[in-house]
Amino acid sequence: MPDPFTDVDTAPPEMIEIMATALETRAADPSMSPIVDGYLDALDISDGTVIVDIGAGTGGVTRQIATLFPAASVLGIEPSVALTQKAVELASSLPNLSFSVGDGAQLDQSDASADVAILHTVLSHVHDPTILVNEVVRILRPGGTLVICDADFSKAAMANVPGDPLGACVEAFVSRAVTDPWLTGKLRPMMRKLGLEVDRFTIQNRVVTEGLGSLVWVRMSSASLVSEGVIGQPLADALEAEYIRRAEDGSLYGFLPFVTLIARKPE
Ligand SMILES: C[S@@+](CC[C@H](N)C(=O)[O-])C[C@H]1O[C@@H](n2cnc3c(N)ncnc32)[C@H](O)[C@@H]1O
Repeated sequence: MPDPFTDVDTAPPEMIEIMATALETRAADPSMSPIVDGYLDALDISDGTVIVDIGAGTGGVTRQIATLFPAASVLGIEPSVALTQKAVELASSLPNLSFSVGDGAQLDQSDASADVAILHTVLSHVHDPTILVNEVVRILRPGGTLVICDADFSKAAMANVPGDPLGACVEAFVSRAVTDPWLTGKLRPMMRKLGLEVDRFTIQNRVVTEGLGSLVWVRMSSASLVSEGVIGQPLADALEAEYIRRAEDGSLYGFLPFVTLIARKPE
């Protein structure tokens, strides 16, 4: 099954709902705050700064950006009509934030029209990240800032012992819902190839020991396995119940490193 995040609108409606809920749950999860705040704090934002969040999903991170920088003009661009509709509904109270439907590899924006461009967990879901980043760099002004934050899915884990069923869920998630689990190790060579100067390359571990922040790994993989006829709904329900049991009794251990790269377009 292809990564449903590469073309969200072609996924079954119930899968789109799972993805939308997962994105909102993750954006609100306290374990993501140090990662997102880490790059937002590093940005130099003044009145009228144009910030473009490409692959904005339901806008969970985009709303955080618009809230933190009320004097900036924030635009979320997202190829999925379904996710964009949700993003617009959820952002109605933020006057400095707007959304439009668009493909990051073919943007409508003119050259050098943005000061900051953000790609938050997008590139691991696209087939040719270099083409997309090149297009994003086109709309950045000289001296503008590119932020790429993505998960190193090659190291994702949720197993407490070998053969742990929740560990199998993570493997099923990565093989079905991530296009390139090894993307993060390719980012610095990509920046060199595109002529960008890397100011920062940091790795922070996201460890989920409580709450529903990593339930997406179980929900999305179970839904795929059920639709493929590999498992039945009773096992999918049991896997979700097991996740919740661990979250409640303190034995949950979700682990995922996040890489943040901040680069500058040469003047
Ligand atoms: C894991 S989601 C992340 C969404 C959002 N950035 C967040 O962190 O909540 C990946 C997003 O990338 C989007 N995406 C996939 N291909 C894209 C492309 N070619 N251009 C822009 N966005 C794309 C998907 O539609 C999806 O919303």
